[in-house]
Amino acid sequence: MGGPLADHRHPGQALSISGAEEERQMLAAIVQARMGSTRLPGKVLADIGGEPMLWHVVKRLRAVTGLDKVLVATSCDPADDPVQGFCVLRGVECFRGSENDVLDRYYRAALLVGADGVVRITGDCPLIDPQVVARVVEVYRCGGHDYVTNTLRYTYPDGVDVEVFSFAALETAWREAVLPTEREHVTPYMRSSGRFRVHNVQCPVDLSGRYLRWTVDEPSDLAFVRAVHEGLNGKGECFGMEDVLDLLESAPELQEINGGIVCNEGFYKSLAGEPPVPARARSLEKSRAWKERARRVVPSMTQTFSKGPTQFVQGVAPAFLERGMGCRVWDVDGNEYIDYAMALGPVILGHDYPAVSEAVVRQVRKGTCFTLPHPLEVELSELLVETVPCAEMVRFGKNGSDATSGAVRAARAYTSRDVIACCGYHGWQDWYIGTTTRDKGIPGAVKELTVPFRYNDIKSLERVFAQHPGQVAAVIMEPVGVVVPEEGFLERVRELTHAQGALLIFDEVVTGFRMALGGAQQYLHVTPDLACLGKAMANGYPLAAVVGRRDIMEMFDEIFFSFTFGGEALSLAAALAAITEMRDKKVVAHLWDQGQRLKDGYNVLAREWGIAAHTECVGFAPRTVASFREKEGGESLVLKSLFQQECLKRGVLFSGGHNISYSHGPCEIETTLRVYRTAMEILADAIGAGDAASRLEGPAVQPVFRAA
Ligand SMILES: Cc1ncc(COP(=O)(O)O)c(C=O)c1O
Repeated sequence: MGGPLADHRHPGQALSISGAEEERQMLAAIVQARMGSTRLPGKVLADIGGEPMLWHVVKRLRAVTGLDKVLVATSCDPADDPVQGFCVLRGVECFRGSENDVLDRYYRAALLVGADGVVRITGDCPLIDPQVVARVVEVYRCGGHDYVTNTLRYTYPDGVDVEVFSFAALETAWREAVLPTEREHVTPYMRSSGRFRVHNVQCPVDLSGRYLRWTVDEPSDLAFVRAVHEGLNGKGECFGMEDVLDLLESAPELQEINGGIVCNEGFYKSLAGEPPVPARARSLEKSRAWKERARRVVPSMTQTFSKGPTQFVQGVAPAFLERGMGCRVWDVDGNEYIDYAMALGPVILGHDYPAVSEAVVRQVRKGTCFTLPHPLEVELSELLVETVPCAEMVRFGKNGSDATSGAVRAARAYTSRDVIACCGYHGWQDWYIGTTTRDKGIPGAVKELTVPFRYNDIKSLERVFAQHPGQVAAVIMEPVGVVVPEEGFLERVRELTHAQGALLIFDEVVTGFRMALGGAQQYLHVTPDLACLGKAMANGYPLAAVVGRRDIMEMFDEIFFSFTFGGEALSLAAALAAITEMRDKKVVAHLWDQGQRLKDGYNVLAREWGIAAHTECVGFAPRTVASFREKEGGESLVLKSLFQQECLKRGVLFSGGHNISYSHGPCEIETTLRVYRTAMEILADAIGAGDAASRLEGPAVQPVFRAA
């Protein structure tokens, strides 16, 4: 598994279809175009700078080196006669075929012209760049792939989309694809079935952090493209992507013309119209047996509340997982699931990820824990200092709680103050958990020393300082959760904290290595004094770290932060391999891409099923959360449970959040959205009938913390 986007080949499953032939292949660009568009009827012939949109597309494709033919494929519907009329007038070859089975239309067009390979372009992309097309064609011509595209990750602008595939792949998809979306959108089967050798071409400058929308679906998209043409008037007919990027650099306001539109909305909408995914036949017998044994010897039947029976619909959910590979896991009965909790965040690359597993196995053979420090402690510290903006020195722990508690102790020692202001969740230790409703066993004197404040509410932090003048040692906070930080909020927190003589600690146990390799502090450009890392840093091995400013970190010489497994070598080896892999493979960009697809798909499906008021996927793409609400707006654990129940029955291990990993590829996201579409239909039905609770096949899930 070299990462899901590098190559989707499943060994032993690949067809003997080759893009590489001894003789040069005849490649035909087939532009699909039709007049009927719900949002912008007749768009393909809409005027852009005095020419129809389709003419821009054809002209640009004719400028591509390495292409043998350009033709337009439209439907037989009389409404599409104007497309044929345009082709006749402009001397463009035209094929007419099925209106909705566009896969069939492509197949027949390619067959007719005798193409060995096809370049698929849609007629609503008038900014298609001949050089980008040529690059994807060139990669395809180099051989070894059945399907080459630049669309599996959003490294190019949306609207510079190129797909190249062999005729043999097209024919196989044409024979085997059955779902309406697979027929309508031509290539989902090639991308997702695992039957083809798939390859993604990355943009040399990765643009995935920006959503650049250059495709035309809405009137505002057309206005944007017209403005671009006007702005690049002097650049000749086939100005390229670089010219458009330069223009947007000098006139960024142009992007506001069509800002805020969802990418691939049409595809997600068509998923809503697909037949539901049937529930799988599953046995949970062994899960039940293990639960009985656990009940007798393990309080709560779990080591981690969020993994326990209160978080999953009992009777429907598996109780124990036995193994995992990539983003898939298998329960003790052998049932397979696509996992979205990913062990609550740590497994950021995938289960049994080769580079990490191999590093660990190599280390196992040399020993795991020693009487003196191991060089890995130094190597990994150096890597963290390079990676995380605030890191000048590093100390390791095992769980995130070690890191947050270590940071708090160091801050108290550094400032000689006792009070801690906190915002978010920070782990199981006394100093924090006393602020929650699970505060049994925490002495009152300890509780008084930690005071919560509210996110995006600077006044609530000002009150903490006002009520504890000169006593606050540190402000510890999750820099961001699912709520977007208000403009300047984090900067104001830092300013206020420092003005009051306290230290700022970012709890990056969740956001570290996920929002950016250097964490939320890197993504949001706010550097704290100390930061706490955990979860994802070792791809599932137990490791956490406190990092930060040298003068504060030197307090660790004075305080007591020391435990037997502090320098345990397997986790250090795992982290070194994992962080290196994340850096080299640009893993975070992948998390943003795939997470955004899942989030967009979820929200479009919820709208299509009329339940957007009840459920929404929120948060930054690498980690999103699905919220469920009653009509009146209160959180609904019943709706969440029903949704979870229906996902579990169909092979998606949903527990509320999506911790996207590098192993969640387009195939898994599409499969998941099909399952979500099915669960949403059931939810919509239950909401309409008002009987969601009675559809549950086990007790509803419960909150870990009671509402205060
Ligand atoms: C933001 C944050 N901080 C700290 C922790 C505590 O980490 P651990 O459970 O590894 O002790 C968590 C755990 O979920 C967390 O989400």
